[in-house]
Amino acid sequence: MYKAVVRLNEQYLGLTKDPCRVFDMFAKFHRLSGALCQKSNVKCQSPDCPQMPPCDFKAEEYKGMSKDRIMEIRKHRCNPMVMKVTYYNKPVCLTQGYMQWLWDTDGRRYLDLFAGIATVSVGHCHPKVTEAAEKQLRCLWHTSNIYMTTPLHEYTEKLTAHLPDQLKVVYLTNSGSEANDLAMLMARLHTGNFDIITFRGSYHGGSPQTLGLTSYAAYKYPIANGFGCHTTMCPDVFRGLWGGSHCRDSPVQTIRQCSCDPGCCQANNMYIEQLKEVLASSVPSRIAGFFGEPIQGVGGAVQYPKNYLKEAYKLVRERGGVCIADEVQTGFGRTGSHFWGFEGHGVIPDMVTMAKGIANGFPMGAVITTQEIANSFAKGIHFNTFSGSPLACTIASSVLDTIREDGTQQTSATVGTYLLTELAKLREKYEIIGDVRGKGLQIGVEMVKDKESRAPLPAEAISQIFEDVKDMGVLIGKGGAFGQVTQDIIGSLDQLELLCSLFCIFQVLVCPGKKLSH
Ligand SMILES: Cc1ncc(COP(=O)(O)O)c(C=O)c1O
Repeated sequence: MYKAVVRLNEQYLGLTKDPCRVFDMFAKFHRLSGALCQKSNVKCQSPDCPQMPPCDFKAEEYKGMSKDRIMEIRKHRCNPMVMKVTYYNKPVCLTQGYMQWLWDTDGRRYLDLFAGIATVSVGHCHPKVTEAAEKQLRCLWHTSNIYMTTPLHEYTEKLTAHLPDQLKVVYLTNSGSEANDLAMLMARLHTGNFDIITFRGSYHGGSPQTLGLTSYAAYKYPIANGFGCHTTMCPDVFRGLWGGSHCRDSPVQTIRQCSCDPGCCQANNMYIEQLKEVLASSVPSRIAGFFGEPIQGVGGAVQYPKNYLKEAYKLVRERGGVCIADEVQTGFGRTGSHFWGFEGHGVIPDMVTMAKGIANGFPMGAVITTQEIANSFAKGIHFNTFSGSPLACTIASSVLDTIREDGTQQTSATVGTYLLTELAKLREKYEIIGDVRGKGLQIGVEMVKDKESRAPLPAEAISQIFEDVKDMGVLIGKGGAFGQVTQDIIGSLDQLELLCSLFCIFQVLVCPGKKLSH
């Protein structure tokens, strides 16, 4: 079996005791091979393997069903789709979580850098949030929103305090797909128009309606879907047709050259031209709206040129459309500089959709919009049994308090910026790290065959790296059209120690035995 050289054991190190020599060999190795592959079946038993940072929390001993039995049930009783999306050749079976840590059936501890797909915003089983949930569980679970309950109204008021003045009207949902479904409906009802534009490579959900917005072949079925949904070119300044060294709002720019004068961004102009072309050719003269993630999540932490959204919003509004920011991944301070991703683009949307981090893993979502747009929705009747559940609202309320009290957003900015700049140094050294991007703790590292071609690192090599990182005790995510972007979306943010770990991954990836200092 071929596997990517993500760690070199003594077998390899035996060739030299000098770490820098190892590094040279390594560099030569992948320069020649491009894809950085060699025959290997090493296990990470080397003393050079980085150690996990210590953890005071003691997980309970697991005494439940065996992992084999769980796998049997998964294979034969769960829809095959569940198996299909299962991460890793040797999947992990998790039993407990505490802040940034997860434990599996074997009692093995993992550092969770993926946070349940950008969802665990303040840490697994955060004690404060857990306490609030427990208290509410003993008091009232469910009523549906046909009755008034205190948690729904307290939460709604607390949440809207985080939004600009014109965005104060909330409808609570149970997921991001539902929130985006409703936002599509509201946009259409309010404008009286039907057509909606999204970016190629975007992910806005898997419901029949949102599948039209989601622009990813892998998620599409050969059924009639996406009536009135259109895509424009994703302004991806690393992989796209245009991009340079000043385009994005990140501590790290692309490796592409730039000949723009100060204050001008040719890449932005070109991508905006693409949107103009879609407006001129694919949609009627009046449109319902435009959906955009402030940073593409599933698409691979893709960032657009700085002024793109500003100009796109203007064009969309000129055509009668409303602008929707999908903050399902970028919301709740994850990008560090702001509470919402759209704030980093200097725009104010007409609607904001959110989920994931809203309740630290408890199923919840929301659409927040203007009074006028909400009024258009209220002309008909919409009902959702679980909307505004007292339990969900209590948890989400405690998450907002915890973000403030723990200083999560600031930590995201500090730790994320440090992490990004250190990762960028590794990119300078190693041919297979094509791009390092993101803001705060929404970070993508794009793996390539080589920097010149920017061709994605082959899936086999990516999978092996992914598997090895897990075997070393660190969970990360994968994104991008080719699964070529590793995503590090750190869940609980009180942990500079995490940095050591992540660097260690890359340290082993590139140069075992050599410590990276802060
Ligand atoms: C940006 C974005 N929007 C919407 C969704 C859909 O959310 P959910 O899976 O809660 O339906 C996702 C899920 O990954 C997402 O990343």
